[in-house]
Amino acid sequence: MTSPLANLQSQIDELLARIASLESLEALRAAEPSLTGKRSVLSSLQKSLGGLAPEERSDAGATLQGARRHVEIALEDRRVELAREERRIRLQADRLDLGDVVVQSVRWPATVGHRGLVPSTQRELEDVFVGMGFTVADGPEVESDWYNFEALNIPPAHPARGMWDTFYVDLGEPETVVLRTHTSPTQIHLMELALAQEALPIHSVMPGRCYRRDTPDARHLATFHQIEGLVVDRDITFADLAGVIETFTRSYFGSDIESRLRPAYFPFTEPSAEFEITCTICRGDGCRTCSQTGWIELGGCGMLDPAVFSAVGLDADEWSGFAFGFGIDRCAQMRYQIGDMRALIENDVRFLGQFS
Ligand code: DAH
Repeated sequence: MTSPLANLQSQIDELLARIASLESLEALRAAEPSLTGKRSVLSSLQKSLGGLAPEERSDAGATLQGARRHVEIALEDRRVELAREERRIRLQADRLDLGDVVVQSVRWPATVGHRGLVPSTQRELEDVFVGMGFTVADGPEVESDWYNFEALNIPPAHPARGMWDTFYVDLGEPETVVLRTHTSPTQIHLMELALAQEALPIHSVMPGRCYRRDTPDARHLATFHQIEGLVVDRDITFADLAGVIETFTRSYFGSDIESRLRPAYFPFTEPSAEFEITCTICRGDGCRTCSQTGWIELGGCGMLDPAVFSAVGLDADEWSGFAFGFGIDRCAQMRYQIGDMRALIENDVRFLGQFS
């Protein structure tokens, strides 16, 4: 009987040729059972060895084992080769062409951020006042009831408290704490500091964020910004205050915008006035933003009330002064003719991009 291994060499050569011709890992996995697995020539040869005489069987077994190793090694080598090639193709496809990115960014230039409208307005306002000889100071946004109200001549339960819808942080003892409803409490800090450091007179502006329990509308935001002004000096009169307001209006809004002061009430000033400017949206003709009046209220002002001097311990016979406070957001609205102030907080890039 001819040995079952008589054609082994040509069978192995054929297997090696098939392995070499495998084109992908997927094809390799599909062919594996017929190359080295149960359905392979090698397995059927293995079975046929059973018909050999025992003394021939172990030699033939060893030969077949050697042949199998040879095929298995060729298969593993091919597997590694195909895996390497497939990885190379994948990386090639993922390659990031930096040249491409540069070309794209020339077509669509990357946008660079810029300062927001309110912070840039704040800086412009500061600049105007610095140009008029004022310094710029800062104060806390969380205040005790005393700074936000009492020292400003608004005792607890005073009806004027209704002028400010307040966010309370803490109603506890010994102090009630609030989010400041205006920048006026910074006046108090500044006077205390000037007194302690013997740094009178004061000519300062104090910009910052304020909070009120208001529903936002075209002219109001619940979080907004004010700039407070304070002058404490000798022989200060209402004419000095009116002059500062008028000079500020003309230099910030332009010479075609007028300001006017109208009698008003604020507990911390006497006399007090409301400070209005020509509505820049309708130039005084009347529109929705100014409720058809032609005027927009920017804030309040007045001569410092003696009660405020005494709250901080300043001698009202020696010192006199005025204060003012108005909305920074409102200034931005008027300067850039923004019909609805809510645009300032909506972060619509089409709106923001106009002010770069
Ligand atoms: N603090 C006032 C408010 O927010 C505005 C104001 C009025 C400020 C009169 C002043 C002032 O300094 O003198 O309604």
